[in-house]
Amino acid sequence: MENRITLLRQGRLQPGQGLVFGTHRPHPVERIHFDIDQYVAAYRVGRKPDGSPYRYHIRTYGCQMNEHDTEVMAGLLEAMGYEATDAVEEADFILFNTCAVRENAEDKVFGEIGRLRPLKMQNPQLLLGLCGCMAQEQGVQRLVREKFPWVDLVFGTHNIHRLPELLTRARESQETVMEVWDRAAMTIEDMPKVRKDRVRAWVNIQYGCNKFCTYCIVPYTRGAERSRLPEDVVREVEALAAEGYREVTLLGQNVNDYGIDIGVTFADLLRRINRVPGIERIRFTTSNPWNFTDDLIAAIAECEHVVEHIHLPVQSGNSQILKRMNRTHTREFYLALVDKIRRAIPGVSLTTDIIVGFPGETEAQFQDTLSLVREVEFDNAFTFIYSPRENTPAANFPDDVPLEEKKDRLRRLNELQAEISLRRNQQLAGRTVEVLVEGESKTNRHVFAGRTRTNKLVLFQGEKRFVGQLLPVKVTEAQTWLLKGELVREEVAVS
Ligand code: SAH
Ligand code: SF4
Ligand code: F3S
Repeated sequence: MENRITLLRQGRLQPGQGLVFGTHRPHPVERIHFDIDQYVAAYRVGRKPDGSPYRYHIRTYGCQMNEHDTEVMAGLLEAMGYEATDAVEEADFILFNTCAVRENAEDKVFGEIGRLRPLKMQNPQLLLGLCGCMAQEQGVQRLVREKFPWVDLVFGTHNIHRLPELLTRARESQETVMEVWDRAAMTIEDMPKVRKDRVRAWVNIQYGCNKFCTYCIVPYTRGAERSRLPEDVVREVEALAAEGYREVTLLGQNVNDYGIDIGVTFADLLRRINRVPGIERIRFTTSNPWNFTDDLIAAIAECEHVVEHIHLPVQSGNSQILKRMNRTHTREFYLALVDKIRRAIPGVSLTTDIIVGFPGETEAQFQDTLSLVREVEFDNAFTFIYSPRENTPAANFPDDVPLEEKKDRLRRLNELQAEISLRRNQQLAGRTVEVLVEGESKTNRHVFAGRTRTNKLVLFQGEKRFVGQLLPVKVTEAQTWLLKGELVREEVAVS
């Protein structure tokens, strides 16, 4: 009998086919170990008639999850025989891996696609694709059909693995090939990846989100939470260590909830990864304040390779707004959690996300956000003006706050955070920090960039052979968004 795995391998799995999830706890998700060589074999492209290789160019928007999806799609394309190019004019396939979290990100993508139309007209062989979170939105699918018919291929976040077949179909088809699955049925292991960095690697541990914050589109674009098995994650991390990677960032929209669907905990996953030889630093993002358990705090504190940095989005400092956001934490709960974390993990750096101008947010409620920011003293904050998103509950909330007022709130918040970030960086002046060297600065060949365990950017004079090493650097100058320093030469690499 043909099962879904056979269908998938043969590329015959239809859109929307798969296990049906409820909105909360999904049924056990099917896990597929993908034989990518076998799958891709039918879609190899060979060379163009003039002997040159087919070339691809991917533009990535949005979060690290999307950046990492791009690495998977690059892996699939290279398995097909495509080569990467930075120059859009040279590309045979241009792919937009999009983000739907705010409207301005979407506008930017459509602007870019519009600008590529002449290129497409000049070169009928060029294929344009749109994937990622925007592709999951029905409004976007409609817009592409009606206004951007020169887009050749649209696919969503749940069927990335089908890119080789879909691209091949798009090359043969007269019409836009559109395949968007509305839910995920499986997690797929062993996808090929072309990673951007040689020192630091992203590792998915969890897909989707069950939280349904009222402003947020992610649960609709990424589906219900699904955890990878710990043994699959550990195997990937071990392989990365063997390739020479020194740092991993574990990715999920809500990493604290990792494992709930498969009966394991995030804290135990950290403990297991901490034992992988060669991995010096373990980062993770994003943590929700909810379900940040004492055991998780203990695991972060006790695992020497888990860094002292927690990205803990608060969104607002006012409990009424938080309730309307469906954030499940209150101001008091958040402050108590920060206190607990700071007591258990000395020197921890805390960063956050904040939305200003949520529908109906009053000046007094915004003041609560400012006072929380003053009280917590975040090392950094990513701040956004609320943007209504298709089919999310908050898009229907009455909103009497004028845009000018929202912009002014953002400005005031950013000014406050910049002061605090500078002050926190100045506390490091004169101290020696451990830096993982990432590479040369883009503007000056002798200046190298790296990060502290607390994720602060450090620039210093260095040499190429230092890339990938952990080095002691003395901070000589603290700026708002970066530190400058000098290598402490008498010491060798620390680990
Ligand atoms: N899973 C993460 C956030 C992912 S989205 C978490 O829960 O923390 C990244 C950030 O985008 C969010 O933290 C939020 O601050 C912001 N964001 C999400 N939806 C938004 C919207 N509709 N308007 C403005 N900002 C939004
Ligand atoms: Fe969006 Fe909330 Fe899920 Fe984060 S936790 S992705 S903000 S719904
Ligand atoms: Fe954007 Fe999707 Fe990430 S909406 S923030 S790319 S999960």
